Amino acid sequence: MKYASWTNGLDESFLGEILKTANHKDTISFAGGLPAQELFPAKDLKECFDRVFEEDGSIALQYAEALGYSPLREWVSKQFFSSGKARKLDEIIITTGSQQGLSLVAQTFIDPGDIVLVESPTYLGALQAFQGYRPRVVAIPCDKNGIIPHELEKILRKCNPKFLYVIPNYQNPTGKIMSLERRRELVEIARKFDLLILEDNPYGELRYEGEALPNIMDMYDKVIYLGSFSKVLSPGLRVGFLIAEEEIVRYIERAKEGVDLFSNNLTQHAVYKYIVGKKFKEHILELRRVYSERKDIMIQALKKYVDEEVQVDTPKGGLFIWAKIQKMGDSCQFLKYSQEEKVIFVPGTFFYPDRRISNEMRINFSCSSPEIIEEGVRRLARAVHRI
Ligand SMILES: Cc1ncc(COP(=O)(O)O)c(C=O)c1O
Repeated sequence: MKYASWTNGLDESFLGEILKTANHKDTISFAGGLPAQELFPAKDLKECFDRVFEEDGSIALQYAEALGYSPLREWVSKQFFSSGKARKLDEIIITTGSQQGLSLVAQTFIDPGDIVLVESPTYLGALQAFQGYRPRVVAIPCDKNGIIPHELEKILRKCNPKFLYVIPNYQNPTGKIMSLERRRELVEIARKFDLLILEDNPYGELRYEGEALPNIMDMYDKVIYLGSFSKVLSPGLRVGFLIAEEEIVRYIERAKEGVDLFSNNLTQHAVYKYIVGKKFKEHILELRRVYSERKDIMIQALKKYVDEEVQVDTPKGGLFIWAKIQKMGDSCQFLKYSQEEKVIFVPGTFFYPDRRISNEMRINFSCSSPEIIEEGVRRLARAVHRI
């Protein structure tokens, strides 16, 4: 087949193979990034869909504008303030999940060979969204507070990137939050170099301790912000949103028309009905409560069974724990042991653009019950003790 040249470097999907073993019925998977499906507000969402059919069925089933359902955009505009002001409606476009936002931004900004900066490590799906446009991805070293400012500055002195992609809240894969100080330093550097920032925030509401920190978008104008209902409602809905200055949104709108004309109209109506209802806030509180408990159970189990062998960072929010195996340099090798013990995770290497060898692993705690978490960690411990 005469495939486009960007497909040349595509690796055999080792990750796909790992995730397939998640379906083996006796394997415990800490590999996915899934929200807990028993917490989806299915009954309430069904009621919302029923009401859409009853109240606005003929409109919701029709072709619609690429920017998305206006009441939903209005809701977003009121929730997300920049410098104390509600955003204008023309600065908001609904996307098919924030994954589509990543892809549309890539399509709109990246020419082959352009430089795109990312955190190191970063979200694998973002690297996949960018790769079709063939950028040169440069990873900026991070520490426990996020991007290291002088490292960013060093790179910006040498190159002129199209944008910097960051996940400031409870990052995927590390679970880290970028400190306020770091956000300020980042913005200062961005101003100095007139850098466009792509801020991806699917996990911000899943906060288990501490106060919410301001979005980068609240601190700096040249930001494209991505939000999503996947983690606070359900990923199957595929509803997200992008906020940026009007001109950028106009370009994104053109790109989106070419991709899918508009995001599922029916679902946008139903999501709107749900989020303006009384239960949305309560639902988020419930998610925080359950996930925080699962996170604590996993941290305690890791401390109990592999305290010496696995170094763990405790996240303050999100869905992931980032852990380092002390006795082995390559967590892909360790995965072989853990697969034999019937527990899986995602090895750190997948989150680095250069696929460096890493002793890190991303472990998900949100979609397993406390009993499964405990048993999964016991199996991980058995694997660790076989090294
Ligand atoms: C950092 C990050 N961005 C974007 C996405 C995509 O989310 P959505 O379901 O909104 O497309 C994910 C999904 O896990 C993610 O972790």
